[in-house]
Amino acid sequence: MVATVDPTNLTLQMTDEHLALQDAVRKFAQKEIMPIAAEFDESGEFPLDTIKKMGAMGLMGIEVPEEYGGAGMDTLAYVLTMIEVAKADASHSTIVSVNNSLYCHGLMKFGTEPQKQEFLVPVASGEKIGAYSLTEPMSGSDAGTMQSRAVLNEAGTHYIINGRKSWVTSGPVADALVLFTMTDADKGNKGITAFMIDAHQPGFIRGKKEPKMGIRASATSEIVYDNYQCPVENVLGKVGEGFKIAMTVLDAGRIGIASQALGIAEAAYEASVQYAKERHAFGEPIGSFQMIQQKIADMKMRIEASRQLIYTAVLAKERNKRTGERYTLEASIAKLFSSETAMFVAHQAVQIHGGMGYSKELPVERYFRDAKITEIYEGTSEVQRLVIARNELGLR
Ligand code: CAA
Repeated sequence: MVATVDPTNLTLQMTDEHLALQDAVRKFAQKEIMPIAAEFDESGEFPLDTIKKMGAMGLMGIEVPEEYGGAGMDTLAYVLTMIEVAKADASHSTIVSVNNSLYCHGLMKFGTEPQKQEFLVPVASGEKIGAYSLTEPMSGSDAGTMQSRAVLNEAGTHYIINGRKSWVTSGPVADALVLFTMTDADKGNKGITAFMIDAHQPGFIRGKKEPKMGIRASATSEIVYDNYQCPVENVLGKVGEGFKIAMTVLDAGRIGIASQALGIAEAAYEASVQYAKERHAFGEPIGSFQMIQQKIADMKMRIEASRQLIYTAVLAKERNKRTGERYTLEASIAKLFSSETAMFVAHQAVQIHGGMGYSKELPVERYFRDAKITEIYEGTSEVQRLVIARNELGLR
């Protein structure tokens, strides 16, 4: 795949490879994912078969170079994939997003060669599933206040990890995780270290599964660490740099969630346009009424604005590859606007559909439930506003 960003004028180029990928993912998502979405939403079962198929298509490690098991594509390819998958089912796109950006991206950026061989290759290829574990029951937006601890043993060979993590996406099924935990609590943020965790070792206990409002097929659980022994070789990056790694990885993750939100919004919007043409009231299609037209116009405008903000964030991430300059601001803006757009559009879609929007016979009520999480995970809308405002005001 060729680079997508022209470094001289910073415009996005949709290559033939991008178009082919978009087409392949769209066809797969519409044929294999969309028909099972309602059933898996109802049961809350993890959709292992379709996730494995996406792994075989290279969609679980899109930006990971081929020598590490990935597809060797770029951020625009990742974004296009996320939009198409989310349009068919948000749960699938959550699993894709965590595997790609929260797990693979951090490992690519900060992992040693042996770590990449052991932890990246099987996950980027889709053979195994990866997760990211930052949040705790009493530590969410304030990630620096975590209670879990990793203590180096006397021999200096292993960290002994104890504590409880919550809201771990793919926690019930993950084979490996990037874990953030405190190695020096006196240092606050600077006392956090990142570890690569093998989920099949003693002391790794999968806790209660979260019964969720939306993205119900994306399994989420607590993970308890009970004297888990992690070899020192599995420290990701440097001791004490875990917080920065967590934030760096979230910058990439937030572009993925913005794309997921756009996919949900597009699905809700297209259903609404169709319904506005078909449903009659007072002897006319409801789309002929100006109150429906206003909703359609506002939905479309916000969707297209989201797309542009996501593309801007993609460009900023490509810039980062050349210059190392952070793209925190662009990622936060894209995530904030797109997630609020998804919620707005799904809300309007339910309203346009009336009673049918409230019925489980159509997917519109699921879009509404699924959209909500995009305003919460990987940094709430309040956190995104804080990040943006601090940046603009030069504050810390
Ligand atoms: N990239 C690199 N470094 C960063 C950074 C970034 N994006 N953001 C902050 N840092 C660095 C700062 O430069 C600073 O470094 P120095 O001390 O060396 O100068 C250090 O990190 C501390 O930064 P702040 O003082 O800004 O940190 P803070 O404690 O004030 O926190 C915050 C800021 C924005 C609130 C941050 O804690 C945050 O984003 N919280 C939300 C966490 C979140 O998104 N959680 C979701 C978890 S994942 C999930 O949802 C589950 C899932 O599985 C999907």
